[in-house]
Amino acid sequence: MPRLFTYNEFENGSEKVRQYADKHSPVIICESTAERNKPFRVKVKIGKSVKHPNAPDHHYEYIQLWNLETLVGEIKLQRSSFGDLPVHIEAEFTIIPKTSLRLTALAYCNKHGLWQSEELFVPVTEE
Ligand SMILES: [Fe+2]
Repeated sequence: MPRLFTYNEFENGSEKVRQYADKHSPVIICESTAERNKPFRVKVKIGKSVKHPNAPDHHYEYIQLWNLETLVGEIKLQRSSFGDLPVHIEAEFTIIPKTSLRLTALAYCNKHGLWQSEELFVPVTEE
């Protein structure tokens, strides 16, 4: 089992350490509630405020979105598609939920490992 890193492990560190954690942390962005059987868009952004390097030897390879233990989707990333510049990579997923969601995003940096977002609870309402 690989180690999963989270921003919270580093939040009491120095400014440099917090920036390191920030630029690696996936963040889930979506509405606070979803409607049953209606498309629900979820965006995952890497880095709350600091851009991650996107260099030939240091870049993100994939982003996954999970609902509890179920893999909702995975996006493979091509470094060269982002111009070899520091970047906030964003990936969008669409879910059609039947029940409430407990979403977590994972993102893999080829140098610094697998990073986990905070879990986000999204209640699903009837139409
Ligand atoms: Fe990295």
